[in-house]
Amino acid sequence: MSLWGARFEIETAEEVKKFSSSIDIDCKLAAVDIRASIAHAAMLGRQKIINHIDAEKIISGLREIDSEIKSGAWSFDPKAEDIHGEIERRLFEKIGEAAKRVHTARSRNDQIATDTRLYLLEKVEFISQSLKGIQKDLLSEAKKHTKTLLPGMTHFQHAQPISLAQHLLAYFWMLDRDFTRLMDSKKRISSMPLGSAALAGTGFNIDRQFTARELGFEKLSENSLDAVSDRDFVIEFLSNASIGMMHLSRFCEELIIWSSPEFAFVELGDEVTTGSSIMPQKKNPDVAELIRGRVGRLYGSLMGALTMMKSLPLSYNRDMQEDKFHLFEGIETWSSCLILFHLMFTKISWRPENMFSSLKADFSNATDLADDLVIKGLSFREAHEIVGNLVQKCLKIGIGLEDLSLAQLREGHSLFDQTSLDKLSHFAVMNARNSEGGTSPKALLVQIAKAESVL
Ligand code: ARG
Repeated sequence: MSLWGARFEIETAEEVKKFSSSIDIDCKLAAVDIRASIAHAAMLGRQKIINHIDAEKIISGLREIDSEIKSGAWSFDPKAEDIHGEIERRLFEKIGEAAKRVHTARSRNDQIATDTRLYLLEKVEFISQSLKGIQKDLLSEAKKHTKTLLPGMTHFQHAQPISLAQHLLAYFWMLDRDFTRLMDSKKRISSMPLGSAALAGTGFNIDRQFTARELGFEKLSENSLDAVSDRDFVIEFLSNASIGMMHLSRFCEELIIWSSPEFAFVELGDEVTTGSSIMPQKKNPDVAELIRGRVGRLYGSLMGALTMMKSLPLSYNRDMQEDKFHLFEGIETWSSCLILFHLMFTKISWRPENMFSSLKADFSNATDLADDLVIKGLSFREAHEIVGNLVQKCLKIGIGLEDLSLAQLREGHSLFDQTSLDKLSHFAVMNARNSEGGTSPKALLVQIAKAESVL
């Protein structure tokens, strides 16, 4: 059964049917398509656009189809054009003539836009919960490691010592932005196109407020033409997902490096690593690598959706059917990577002793030695130069700043004293960073309290 065959003299070519069919992708929308049709039929009945007996038949027929799909008692014809036609066909098989009234005052154009938004809203719920879950993981590890030292890097070179907590919380706040961005996007996803019909609205006395309430939409779309041709919400989601995945990829990259023997800052659990078919000793961080690699899929989906929409004239164009390919790929990739990231994170064994020993003679205390001279009255520029010379001297001898004796230190400048030496321990360096958002255990208490309050 086609939804539109009568006007044609010649049957659509098989190749065209196959080429244009979307059932293999939009079958995912079955449950939301049914929900939307139930709300629509209820509205048609209430508004007396169709009689209430037909409305009830349609609604109970659709509910049965929903359970048939869930139990596997009925499945789609893989050759069908799309999910909308396929469910209407099944409805006709079940309830007969009344099924022919369900499509009154709507078009597949407002239907698909409504379905896609409903589907995405559900997935956004899941993804936001997953983000919160990882934030909890990060926070609970951070709390245990406010005094665990590791090298803070810039340019991937030792810069200043920080705590592991500070490092983990950096990701906490990245994920917090992912979460709030996603929440903010919800109000734009939650705008109901249904009732816009093909492009111009409908002459039937429909009640869009009722349908929106039934479906849980926050608002109605304002313009029918915009409503059926808007896929900004798809692009916005993919853009948010791309940023979120980029964040995961950065942590994964660090875990890959940190789990290498040169670093050995972490050991990843056996459950989340894999071996080699040839090298018996290998333990590879494949989960982290795959998450890092899958970012490419998301950027591809984002570019695909943006390019598909570029220059499209108003309003609906069939090009837009491609949106679901990109959207579903993005949803699946982000969701699965969040799940796997959580799993991998809970199987990390931290190696604080290796983090600490990597700080030996690394000069990440140099800034504090310069700051010490500033406190004692020199300008920062002068202090910078004096400490730079001391670093050079140490490098020649093969020691760290903390290994200098007071006498050697004073060869650099006579203002140095015992308090200068005390400031050179990496713990002292970390503890000194008390500014808001800084890495000292004291400043971290405030940051942790804030993190707790956003969870
Ligand atoms: N499968 C179509 C899509 O995903 C549904 C809308 C079809 N509308 C139309 N005018 N052919 O976009």
